[in-house]
Order: sequence, then structure tokens, then C-alpha cells
Amino acid sequence: MPGIGYRWRGGPPLSIEDYRRAARRALPDMAWAYVDGAADDQVTRRDNELAFRRWRLRQRGLAGVRAPDLSVEVAGERLALPIVLAPTGIIGMAHWQGDLAAARAAEKAGTRHILSTGSSYSLEEVRDATSENHWFQLYPFGDRVKVGELLDRAAGAGFTALFVTVDVPVRGNREAERRAGMTVPPTLTPGRLLDVAVHPAWWFNLLRHKRISAVHYAEGARTLSGAVEAVRKQERYMQTDLDWNDLAWMRERWKGRLYVKGLMDPEDAARAVDVIGANGVVVSNHGGRQLDRAPATLEVLPGIVERVGNRGEVLLDGGVRRGVDVVTALALGARAVLIGRPYAYGLAAGGEAGVTDVLRILREEMTRALILMGCPSAAELDGSWLLAGMGEA
Ligand code: FNR
Repeated sequence: MPGIGYRWRGGPPLSIEDYRRAARRALPDMAWAYVDGAADDQVTRRDNELAFRRWRLRQRGLAGVRAPDLSVEVAGERLALPIVLAPTGIIGMAHWQGDLAAARAAEKAGTRHILSTGSSYSLEEVRDATSENHWFQLYPFGDRVKVGELLDRAAGAGFTALFVTVDVPVRGNREAERRAGMTVPPTLTPGRLLDVAVHPAWWFNLLRHKRISAVHYAEGARTLSGAVEAVRKQERYMQTDLDWNDLAWMRERWKGRLYVKGLMDPEDAARAVDVIGANGVVVSNHGGRQLDRAPATLEVLPGIVERVGNRGEVLLDGGVRRGVDVVTALALGARAVLIGRPYAYGLAAGGEAGVTDVLRILREEMTRALILMGCPSAAELDGSWLLAGMGEA
């Protein structure tokens, strides 16, 4: 695989699952637990993926579809494919190129990246490394002055849409991370040091590039003590009693398009759009990293689409691993999907080229699926393309 500095065992990755395995090998346990893990028993995380497999796709023959049009409009932009890169904090853990690689790969594929408040690169660094305007995700911490400053920075750096994440009033119980020693500060045992030692490239890049922190939370966050300080601040700033008044304030404060990420209930989605004036919502359970036993996002999607109607854009994330998953989400009313772990796997395995390849795989899978279904475009997908499945695959 040109450009990917990783020796593939058994050939280059063909699927997102192959990339997951490659990422597992590339990362020490601690980083892997952070990137791949979820909350508690990881039930919701599994359900997210399984929910897609319950649906079957309608197959129309002889439809003469040659090159299906995958493009959709999100946040006023025409995207070449209905897949956006989700915000992921401290993604320098997966690969030192982190957010820069993600944003660059997204724009090469004709789509967008959403930069996390907890990113490893700053708003300005991403602006300088890219040519498109990307989108920003806000963790609404309690201090309105600080939030206001961050929003001004984002607008000043040309970020056009804001995604306010509301499902982290408190951090989910990531036991896998804690077991692997991903505490603040990291708990280093001889075994863990040995594990890091057998991943010398990751270790070397960590020391050389120092991109394992959340740079918007602490100046000097790139030293180890700075990184610890940033994560502590991030936890201190969490607003447990976040409510609708806070969201209304953010809507007032941010002049661009605003989306609420992490809503799972039709009433909440309708309130965000109709009362607060959000441009849309991202149906998300944070990839199962927050409330374990929350339903799969795909399960609650139709109810939310029905309540919000066409007054707001409804996006979805969680468990998208195949082109046919994207097709299913769109057929159930999502305008586009976000992917989190899939691109983090690509990043871990091959940096920017890995993310580009993950997007290529999903694009090709989706194109092939639409041709086989006889469906000319992503825009045509609706409930008529779905049949209830015969149970779990
Ligand atoms: C996340 N997610 C996330 N969401 C957010 O709004 N802000 C953030 O900083 C992060 N950080 C983060 C880190 C990592 C390593 C992961 C895997 C996820 C959640 C993310 O945006 C998205 O909702 C899920 O990842 C979607 O599920 P999948 O695609 O990973 O199954």
C-alpha cells in the first residue's frame, strides 16, 4: 500500500475491520484502550454495530445505474460523500499526525472533519494545514467567558459550523482504559513499560512530536505534566448540570450553523431545532463511551427524523463500519453519518494515508452497494429501500 508505513500481516487492509486489527497491532495497550474502548460492559457500543445488520436492502434489477451520486448537503456545504469525520479528543494517541491528518484526508475526499475541543492540534494549526473551512466541536464547560473566547477563536480561524456535544456532563466509566493504566497521570508498571517498548515507533513519535494532549485546555500542554494538567482541567470544566439555558446561550453566542451532538430522544431533538434554533442534531451515544445500555443510535433514528421532519438536519454516528451501514442510515432518514473509530484505526495504522484509505474503502463499498441495489444516488435513499431483516446477522 503506497504511502502507508506499516508492514501488513497477510496483505493490505481490505475493510474497516482489517484496519481495526492493524491498529490493535500498532498501538500499545493504553492507547488502544483509549481509542477502541467504551463504557462499562460495552453493550451500547456493540448494539450500535449490530443494529445495522438487522436491516435488508431492496435490490432492483436492470436499473442502469453506472456511477451513483454520493453527494449530500450538510451545513450548507456539498459533500462528495455522506461521511464526516467525527470529533475525537487527544487523537494524537492514535498517531502523532492526529487531527491534521484527519482534516487533510477529509478534504481530499471532499468532506469535512470536526475538530474536537480536546484536540491534539489547535484550531489555528488545523486552519494553517488545510484549505477548506472545517467544523468545530464544543464541550460546553461551565465558564462562559472561556467558552466565548474559544468560539471567537474558532470563528476567527474560519471554522463555519459548531457541534455542541451534550452527552458528557460527566465522563463515562471507561473501565478498559483504567485497567490499561490510562489514568491521570498514567499508571506505569514494568509490564506496561514493556508493552510500550515493543511499540518503539509509537513511543518515539510520542516523545518527538508530543501530541498526546488537549491543547485548548492548557498552554504548554505538550509536556507530560502539561498533558496531565490539561486532562485534569478538562474534567474540572465539565458542567454536570448543563441545561437548555446553556444551549440557548451558545446559540445566541455562535453566529454560524449550530448542531447538537449527543441527543437520543425525539423530544430533545425537536426542542433543539424548534425552540433553540439549532440547524440540526447528531443522533449519537458517543460510540457507547458514555451511557452504557443507551439504545443503538440507528434504533432511535426514525423517531427523531419523524419529530424533526425537514426543519433540521439529522445526522447519526455510532457503529458505521461498512458502506451498506451508511446506505441503511440514509434510508432511515439520516442526511449523513459521522465515523469515529474507523478513521482512528486508519490513523493508527497509517497516519494520513490510512485515513484516506478508510474513506476510500467506505466510498467504494457504498458505490458498489448502490449499483447493486439499482439506486442512482444517496439523495434517493428512503425507507422504500429497506426491508425488515430476519433478525441479527
Ligand atoms: C470520541 N468521541 C468524541 N465526541 C466528541 O463530541 N468530542 C470528543 O472529543 C470525542 N472524543 C472521542 C475520542 C475517541 C478516541 C473516540 C473513539 C470517540 C465520540 C465520537 O465523536 C463519535 O460520537 C463516536 O466515535 C461514533 O462512534 P464510532 O464511529 O466510533 O462507532
